[in-house]
Amino acid sequence: MTTDDSFTALLEYMETDLSFATSHYNDSYLDRRITARIRRTRCDDYDEYFDLLQSDPDEQAALLDSMSINVTGFFRNPGVWDGIRDVLRTLSSTTDRLEIWSAACADGREPYSLSMLAHDDPRIDESAVRILATDISEDALEVARNGVYEESRTTDIEGELDYLSNPDRYVEYDSTAETYRVRDSVKERVTFERHDLINGGPKSGFNLVTCRNLFIYIDTEYKRTMLETIARSLRPDGYLVIGKSETIPPALKSEFSATDNRHRIYERT
Ligand SMILES: C[S@@+](CC[C@H](N)C(=O)[O-])C[C@H]1O[C@@H](n2cnc3c(N)ncnc32)[C@H](O)[C@@H]1O
Repeated sequence: MTTDDSFTALLEYMETDLSFATSHYNDSYLDRRITARIRRTRCDDYDEYFDLLQSDPDEQAALLDSMSINVTGFFRNPGVWDGIRDVLRTLSSTTDRLEIWSAACADGREPYSLSMLAHDDPRIDESAVRILATDISEDALEVARNGVYEESRTTDIEGELDYLSNPDRYVEYDSTAETYRVRDSVKERVTFERHDLINGGPKSGFNLVTCRNLFIYIDTEYKRTMLETIARSLRPDGYLVIGKSETIPPALKSEFSATDNRHRIYERT
């Protein structure tokens, strides 16, 4: 088989036998993840890896695990949060109910950052803020609802919270367990719910939607479906924030106009 045929056969196997919707993701992302597993298992090529995958349930689990795109953080890309702060200030001065949807919220650190920012900035009325946070992954949502985050070799929670001048107001540190617990005042502004941005349909009435760092993995066709869902969920003049390295596809350029290009912030037209 050619490398292309082997790659396609592997994706078909993942789709049918492992029930992973490969068709939603772009090929270069899938290729990077599979190549990493090929290297890790010391296989020579796709064919050898495919044989291993079919015969080894542990490798099936490891491959699916490596596909999960759950990287996140409090105040991820801090510069962008200055742009989000400006949007929240503007909305706070023009509306008395500020509805935010954190779509693809992963383990909750993004919606909790929104809530912390609303509490922290005197020009944002936190009592007007309601945040709906959704993700396709029930596991991620369980961690999110719990609101306890572990410091580890790879996760620098203290560093992530540096965006705030006084993070202790919003998290409680347990030095024995090395965990940070999000305080109730922050949690009570956020509701978590499972929602699939490809098949889940639109919501309504949001002033701001954040949907960051998901489109980079998604096939163009589905990216368009997701952005249509978001556009229909926003109020006229509502704002959208996407990831720093993401773009709005040309077919949807008429739905959104950039208000802050550098921080990927758009207004619904
Ligand atoms: C890389 S994380 C981004 C988290 C956060 N927005 C951020 O920027 O830090 C991507 C998240 O998208 C979620 N996801 C993947 N496919 C999805 C879909 N079809 N609908 C909703 N969420 C999805 C994953 O479960 C994961 O938690």
